[in-house]
Amino acid sequence: MDEETSKQYEKCNFCNKAKNDVKKLIVGDSVAICNECVDLCGDLLQELARTTVKALDFKEIDPRELKEFLDKYVIGQDNAKMVLSVAVANHYKRINNTSKELELDKANVLLLGPTGCGKTLLAKTVARFLDVPFAVTDATSITEAGYVGDDVETLIGKLLSNAGGNVEKCQRGIIFLDEVDKIARKSENSSITRDVSGEGVQQALLKVVEGTVCRVPMPGASRKNPQAEMVEVDTSNILFIAGGAFVGINDVIKRRAEGSGIGFGVEVKTNDQGSLHDLEPDDLVKFGMIPEFVGRFPTWVGLTELSKEQLMFVLTEIKNSLVAQYTYLFETDGVQLKFSNEALLEIAKNAATRKTGARSLQAELERILMPHMFSLKEYAKQDITEVVITPGLVKKPIKLAA
Ligand SMILES: Nc1ncnc2c1ncn2[C@@H]1O[C@H](COP(=O)(O)OP(=O)(O)OP(=O)(O)O)[C@@H](O)[C@H]1O
Ligand SMILES: [Mg+2]
Repeated sequence: MDEETSKQYEKCNFCNKAKNDVKKLIVGDSVAICNECVDLCGDLLQELARTTVKALDFKEIDPRELKEFLDKYVIGQDNAKMVLSVAVANHYKRINNTSKELELDKANVLLLGPTGCGKTLLAKTVARFLDVPFAVTDATSITEAGYVGDDVETLIGKLLSNAGGNVEKCQRGIIFLDEVDKIARKSENSSITRDVSGEGVQQALLKVVEGTVCRVPMPGASRKNPQAEMVEVDTSNILFIAGGAFVGINDVIKRRAEGSGIGFGVEVKTNDQGSLHDLEPDDLVKFGMIPEFVGRFPTWVGLTELSKEQLMFVLTEIKNSLVAQYTYLFETDGVQLKFSNEALLEIAKNAATRKTGARSLQAELERILMPHMFSLKEYAKQDITEVVITPGLVKKPIKLAA
């Protein structure tokens, strides 16, 4: 290092402060920067992120492309994938619409289907495809305080936080409202049994879902400037995807169909894709959703319970599959984890009986792999390099080795 260069490293090239006057001087190939200048740059970049608008223009979304992307992460549910892809493409067409004459109405989406069949996963994967901020909220955690009450603001605040405080980005994000069926009115006739809790929450949600301006706290805003802590977020371009199991909706559909005579003698099977096909807004109202709420979700689609074969695919075929995850865990200790096909089918069968969809797969794998994971270090010492899971190991009640 010549004298000239070594002198360069003695001070910050940006503010000229000497090395000894700052906490830390970071030295690059031919330049040095102090911690204070790094902080300043950080603040500048954050500010830029908050105010940048242009970069967020969306290219057109091809529903087929989105569906193909969903196929990589979500097994089955073809119908839901198609409906969701079209709804999302239309939603962003609407946002990008510059025509003054024609205003496109917002079409939020409602996903109905049993637990663990991929509702949340679908919504999450859509957000990943679009690279827009995404927030999941449990509808049951929202209280009915006022119209746009505190808790509804918390919901938007969550999205804003996931958007890194960028209001523009947040306004184009997706919110997944989980468990909306749990905020159903308990009785269809609310004048007899007044059950306002669910109804109140639905009321509180109406405005944000439709589009309103909320004042929400800016995540991580500086305490020095309390005025700047609240920002206004317009929710009219936020896409709301609601999900719920709606247990018992099939009976509502069946009763209506039978009552009207149209479906007389038609067997409406639970978990049959066809049954949710026949869903009408009225059925959701009968179930306990208020008509205004239903009206704001004009697109709905039913998801089906996953079959044994589909559960097997969930184990092995998708990106970040459970088998890939556990294989990695074993590999870190130098042990290869293998499953026979029969064992995988057995695991899927066991999971299917638990009625919690793909959720039970992980529990099954944990149960089966636990004793091996407990002993992985031991295996390495004994030169055991492979663990093969066979149907026998799946069936056997597992005991932890003493
Ligand atoms: N169709 C599917 N394809 C791939 N993985 C799935 C599928 N369905 C569920 N899973 C897996 O199961 C787990 C639970 O799925 P998810 O959270 O989407 O269920 P859900 O339908 O939202 O259920 P709930 O009604 O209980 O909220 C996820 O971690 C996901 O990996
Ligand atoms: Mg869910």
